[in-house]
Amino acid sequence: MPFPTQRMRRYRKTKTLRRLFEETRLVPSDFILPLFTEEGLQSPKPIASMPGVLRHSLSSLAREAAAAHRLGIQGVLLFGIPKKKDAMAKEAHNPNGVIQKAVKLLKREEPELAVITDVCACEYTSHGHCGILHGEDVDNDKTLELLQKIALSHATAGADMVAPSDMMDGRIRAIRQALDQKGFPMTPILSYAAKFSTCFYGPFRDAVDSAPAFGDRKTYQMPASNSREAMREIQLDIEEGADAVMVKPALTALDIITKARWRFQLPLWAYHVSGEYTMVKAAGKMGWLNEETAMAESLLAIKRAGADRIITYWAKEAARLFK
Ligand code: PBG
Repeated sequence: MPFPTQRMRRYRKTKTLRRLFEETRLVPSDFILPLFTEEGLQSPKPIASMPGVLRHSLSSLAREAAAAHRLGIQGVLLFGIPKKKDAMAKEAHNPNGVIQKAVKLLKREEPELAVITDVCACEYTSHGHCGILHGEDVDNDKTLELLQKIALSHATAGADMVAPSDMMDGRIRAIRQALDQKGFPMTPILSYAAKFSTCFYGPFRDAVDSAPAFGDRKTYQMPASNSREAMREIQLDIEEGADAVMVKPALTALDIITKARWRFQLPLWAYHVSGEYTMVKAAGKMGWLNEETAMAESLLAIKRAGADRIITYWAKEAARLFK
């Protein structure tokens, strides 16, 4: 039926009609809040490259998690910044390390809030790479043993889910085996399955002091050019036993999210990363963009593309806006 029988503008005539015909909706439980905690900190410290985001002390971490939970957020993703870094990332699996303490505290204070931990070495290595080095490159198989220890220490502390973000080959199987053998067969693994190498992680690396001391992460993180390779990454992680998979970053990988949505049945999460957040913050501050609307449109686009859940530094603001 050609014009004028079909008038698309009928759907948009009033605010109420627009609401009635909405296809995608955001709700507070769509959002996961990433939280940073620094060992030994007495009070929270702002992160210069991420306005509105803080490095938390243990007590401010608990308060922030509780505030997020009250807004309807169901999960937080924890990152730790240790006092001591070394070549082997020993602090990453210290049973009394910064993250292990944080997990115990949150599970005690906010038991109903899911605590997810980022399993990676880069915040704990003196060289800033995501594993153990051999020469100038990360040794994949040696790093697997390290990741097993890290994941186990998080599960032992009480983490509800572990999320490996290192992009080593075979890590999901290695972590699954370690968890199963050591009494954690029910701890799910959220895999950062398709993680691209990007400048959009820049502000995060300032936040946790994890910029590589030399070189880059291009021998383990994916190139922006490849989408079939991203599907294979996801496929392999599923075969190795991932319970949920993630695409990261989000806005420059919306096509990857959509393809993965059609191809795989697993829960699919997207990480709206530090740079995607910070660029809107910066433009908002300059008066060049409306920050709240830019936030709403970004998050909506990620869900519309097919993500089930969105990890975002805007989780609290978004939960308020979409309550
Ligand atoms: C650790 C890790 C990174 C992010 C999450 N986990 C940084 C990186 O790979 O360099 C980035 C998160 C963000 O930018 O918000 N490997």
